[in-house]
Amino acid sequence: MIQRVAVYPGSFDPVHHGHLDIIARCRPMFDRLVVAVLENEEKRAMFSVAERVEMIRDLVGSDGHCQVESFSGLLVDFLDRVGATTIVRGLRAVSDFEYEFQMALMNRRLNPRVETVFMTPKEDYSYLSSRLVKEVFRLGGNLEGLVPPPVLARMASRLRESGGAGRA
Ligand code: PNS
Repeated sequence: MIQRVAVYPGSFDPVHHGHLDIIARCRPMFDRLVVAVLENEEKRAMFSVAERVEMIRDLVGSDGHCQVESFSGLLVDFLDRVGATTIVRGLRAVSDFEYEFQMALMNRRLNPRVETVFMTPKEDYSYLSSRLVKEVFRLGGNLEGLVPPPVLARMASRLRESGGAGRA
């Protein structure tokens, strides 16, 4: 039997409710979903890739049906390694469209068997991004209901460790 396997890739620095909403929505659509954290150890990142994987695993679990992994190199090559032909991406607003459109077409050019499926998150999260989450957090804003409490707790300790400047 052919398995429907999808990859939901991203930076997830950090994971927020918009991401978790997309994961919950697409989980029932596929036999297996691989949440894939890009290995981009940027200086400006708040969390290491290992920490991001661990946080997502703690929130969504990792079993035969849903896995959380990291990847480097081309996304389409990662899809091959895990036996997937579908990429899931969240589409929040028109502003996301151009970047997502380019990536979807480039990925299909690199591997014509790959299709990208766009999913819209719940309206409450349609403006949410990891970049804004970090900015609001650093400036002391309230992120209740937008970021899961365990992630907020880790952000708080990261901020304390770094004296307010993130991981770098
Ligand atoms: O959450 P992000 O940062 O918007 O996710 C971007 C991501 C990880 C999907 C994209 O940067 C990616 O796929 N990187 C892997 C390298 C790659 O395949 N580049 C060509 C994409 S067309």
